[in-house]
Amino acid sequence: MPAWHLRDYHDRDLDQAIRIWEQSRLADEDPVFPVSEVMAAAQSGQTAVVAVVGDELVGMAVAQTGGTRGWVLLVALASRWRERGIGSALLSELERRLRALGVRRVSALLPADAAGTKALENSGYRLRDDLTYYEKIEPDDTANAEVLATLGGRMLPSGLWDAMAGMEREKQVVERRVVLPLTEPALADRFAVAPPKAVILFGPPGTGKTSFAKAVASRLGWPFVELYPSRLAADTDEGLAVALRQAFADLAELDSVLLFIDEVEEIAGARSGKAVDPGHGVTNELLKLIPVFREHDTRLLTCATNSVRSLDAAFLRPGRFDYVIPIGPPDPTARAAIWTRYLRAATDSVDLTRLVEASELFTPADIEYAARKGAQTAFEREVTQRRGLPATTEDYMTAIADTRPTLTARAIEEFMEDIETYSRL
Ligand SMILES: Nc1ncnc2c1ncn2[C@@H]1O[C@H](COP(=O)(O)OP(=O)(O)OP(=O)(O)O)[C@@H](O)[C@H]1O
Ligand SMILES: [Mg+2]
Repeated sequence: MPAWHLRDYHDRDLDQAIRIWEQSRLADEDPVFPVSEVMAAAQSGQTAVVAVVGDELVGMAVAQTGGTRGWVLLVALASRWRERGIGSALLSELERRLRALGVRRVSALLPADAAGTKALENSGYRLRDDLTYYEKIEPDDTANAEVLATLGGRMLPSGLWDAMAGMEREKQVVERRVVLPLTEPALADRFAVAPPKAVILFGPPGTGKTSFAKAVASRLGWPFVELYPSRLAADTDEGLAVALRQAFADLAELDSVLLFIDEVEEIAGARSGKAVDPGHGVTNELLKLIPVFREHDTRLLTCATNSVRSLDAAFLRPGRFDYVIPIGPPDPTARAAIWTRYLRAATDSVDLTRLVEASELFTPADIEYAARKGAQTAFEREVTQRRGLPATTEDYMTAIADTRPTLTARAIEEFMEDIETYSRL
């Protein structure tokens, strides 16, 4: 037989590599490292060597490194080329390369009697029969991931809830009514508390409605999907209804989801009663879609609006939405907490009480804006003067003066009326 030699693995070897992997397996073998993982490692530049005879691939070894540890993921030989020392040669070449990468301990985990065990034994590996291997396989999520990508959804980082500063009243309501029944389903069931399926958050712009929706998704560990009425591809009202129906149909394939519809008044505005009322068809469509959406336990529709009074009355009826929750302007305590969050290091050099007083009628968004502006001023001063001085109260007071508050006395009055008329907790 002609001589074999070793070389690097190339991407074009993939087909032959998979064939060798197949030949090396025992019929009922359940490999620790599945072929997809091995080949992905080889193709992403992890250490991989092959043995070839002419153009034919006859053996392959792959390892993965992390610090001083190397894991042998694969030692495979074509059936006709066993017992010739190719396995040991592959291993020793693999080890040489791992050593060069700083690896000091090489491990291999194989089903008993798998191909490669002999090569390991012949190459000085110690059999550890004192160990037991555990594994847990997470459910295959690829279908979910595709749907999520289609819908522009994503998993949010954990910790968004804790990042919501102040707003204790709102946080308490959202936590008790919305979050806990979903995170404690067994307990909720024992007390006949129905988990919420749909909620509305209303309040002036910039008070944190979107942030709350994301924080809830983050706490639940559910994917967050946002539907933008204005972006649902449609030129006509009819088309919008179709796009909406399609989006809801796609969502139905997800195991769990927080669906967020911002500015929901755009698609659920009050119908004037006229047959040609624009928006009418879409509102009807949404009204039909919500009951179907509600049929599943691990879904939450969260709608947000700045204008709860312009929502269609049918839309707001109990049965569709479990709770209609006001997200209000921050009181002084909440403002202090929000300022503190955005001041960060500057809290020591700044008179917080003055900032809180001066930022009446500010929303969290306004405070965030003013805080950034004040920090920027202090930063620019330091860049030119290099005096090692922190941001001052004046930096922030000037920023506050330059920030137009979102809220007005009138807007707060209307919000209070809306709470009276619409809130349901
Ligand atoms: N409690 C809070 N603590 C810190 N930052 C906050 C808080 N609430 C909101 N913010 C910040 O304020 C900004 C606006 O918040 P968000 O977008 O959630 O408000 P909104 O009510 O959805 O506004 P809109 O009505 O304009 O959609 C965001 O940058 C957010 O990070
Ligand atoms: Mg918003």
